[in-house]
Amino acid sequence: MMRKPVIAANWKMHKTIKEAENFAAEFPYEPDLCEQVDVVIFPPYTALFAVSEALKGTGIKLGAQNMHPDEKGAFTGEISPLMLKDAGCSCVILGHSERRHIFSESDEYINRKVKAAFRHGLKPFLCVGETLDERQAGLTQEVCKRQLSGSLAGLNADEIAAMVIAYEPVWAIGTGVNATSEDAEKSIAFIRGYLGEKYGAEAAGQVRIQYGGSVKPSNIGEYIRCENIDGALVGGASLEIDSFYSLVQGALQLAVYA
Ligand code: 13P
Repeated sequence: MMRKPVIAANWKMHKTIKEAENFAAEFPYEPDLCEQVDVVIFPPYTALFAVSEALKGTGIKLGAQNMHPDEKGAFTGEISPLMLKDAGCSCVILGHSERRHIFSESDEYINRKVKAAFRHGLKPFLCVGETLDERQAGLTQEVCKRQLSGSLAGLNADEIAAMVIAYEPVWAIGTGVNATSEDAEKSIAFIRGYLGEKYGAEAAGQVRIQYGGSVKPSNIGEYIRCENIDGALVGGASLEIDSFYSLVQGALQLAVYA
């Protein structure tokens, strides 16, 4: 595989500052780990700065789970790209299904955020994926295509190549029911094909596409072995050091990236 795998921890609304800081300080990284695998941690906002300090010198990257598209202004309760950079972030998750479904974020709004991320030098991790109803109605590819087309509107091929996309079927998130590697590979190959048609083969060959949804140490290998799957965005199994370490090791051992 020519793409560097990326294993990311989405902690969602978990961990106090102290808990997050301890995780980052105690995570057993090896000095050259991040040359083989990109490791990214997405803590809650309150812990970003402390985790950024604790990760200094490790090569592990830091990201936020969401952001507002504007730099500043009267947006009570929101956080801006400048604030995330200030706290030490280099990455940001955008369009997570929990944002789309619980907080009604539209593709158009997510698109504004993706563009803002690029303007401010933050690497977007754009999430797409179908609900169970959509899957059962045979709409998986159509939904992914609609979300990609809306969320990526106006971007160029270089931006597509530089970002990360996470295919996270909603029915697999936090349910313990992971998509089979065949299903995940099929959807991710479709996503790569779609990006190839729109942005060219080079960008589509470079963009990293993760699978997310009930990934654990026992199933990470199945995904990493797939041709089009470049890592995982992990919720529950990223909250404990042992389990997240096993996921990173799984990617390290199985990736044929060099
Ligand atoms: P789980 O790994 O807990 O299923 O969550 C996946 C996810 O939503 C990562 O963004």
